[in-house]
Amino acid sequence: PQSLRAHAQARGLLAGCAVVPEKLAGEPAYANTVAEQANLLVAENAMKWKALRPAPDKYNFAPADAILAFANEHNQRVRGHNLCWHEALPDWFQATATHENARELLIDHIEHVAGHFAGKLHSWDVVNEAIDVKDGRPDGLRKSPWLDLIGPDYIEIAFRTARRADSTALLTYNDYGIELDTPEQEQKRSQVLALVKQLRLRGVPIHAVGVQSHLTAGEGTPGAGLREFVRAVGELGMQVFITELDVSDHKLTGSVKERDTAVAKLYGDYLNLVLAEPNVTAVLTWGITDTYSWLNHHHARSDGQPQRCLPFDADYQPTPVFFAMRKAF
Ligand code: XIL
Repeated sequence: PQSLRAHAQARGLLAGCAVVPEKLAGEPAYANTVAEQANLLVAENAMKWKALRPAPDKYNFAPADAILAFANEHNQRVRGHNLCWHEALPDWFQATATHENARELLIDHIEHVAGHFAGKLHSWDVVNEAIDVKDGRPDGLRKSPWLDLIGPDYIEIAFRTARRADSTALLTYNDYGIELDTPEQEQKRSQVLALVKQLRLRGVPIHAVGVQSHLTAGEGTPGAGLREFVRAVGELGMQVFITELDVSDHKLTGSVKERDTAVAKLYGDYLNLVLAEPNVTAVLTWGITDTYSWLNHHHARSDGQPQRCLPFDADYQPTPVFFAMRKAF
């Protein structure tokens, strides 16, 4: 069948998936599918602090560089993920980072990492998941090591440093739980919007909002509120990327066929909704085949069956998700 990549390109959309460099190198069916279907890649883990920083003074760029080499060979763009997050920090971080040195640690990391990839990336997730309404702060900021050690300024510092290190990547604020029209997600969405608005007003270099889009079948469908959010981001002069799309089927019982139908429908409805807005310019799924989806661990099904959550199945055959995506593109 005609590829997702071909359909995306025909409408000027960047589309692809999160990848694991070891599988690109070691599993031909995986590599072939990624090469055929994607024109945009992101590292599922290989560009996180934990992967890049085995020791305070040691950088491990080889796996991430392998993704860039693969992308070059196949005429694909690459997103960076991510420069500043409360998770995936190396084990040495906790023992090393203090109120005194944290600011310098963050700046050094971003200078070094964004500098390494300068000029080569489509975009960077500069700050990931900085808002958590449940933490109860008026500004909505999540209680994280970065907030604790540096204070709210860490966000602005991260973006300004990233811009100095790489003047071409589109700098992105990325978050989850902002897709549905539930009161909780509406509230988080407005905190995210307030945050990026404030950054823009202060002249901080930020060009896009990443909507992770980890959805769950049977938990409600995105609606007008999400569309308004995308528009509001557009009115600030910013793009929106769908950065980590997948649909967990862990709440669905029933046959594989029934599950597939529900999952594919949510993919289609979601993509039709967001792609109606012209400032949505990139769509990535969080993986390419069900087999390696993080949802098999994060939202394991209680019947022990693998998730049916991505466009290709265990044999790299297209699933109903593939056809729903292609239709929406
Ligand atoms: C996940 C990866 O998929 C897992 O392999 C890893 O163990 C944990 O992180 N939001 C993000 C991603 O921004 O980086 C996360 O990726 C999924 C949730």
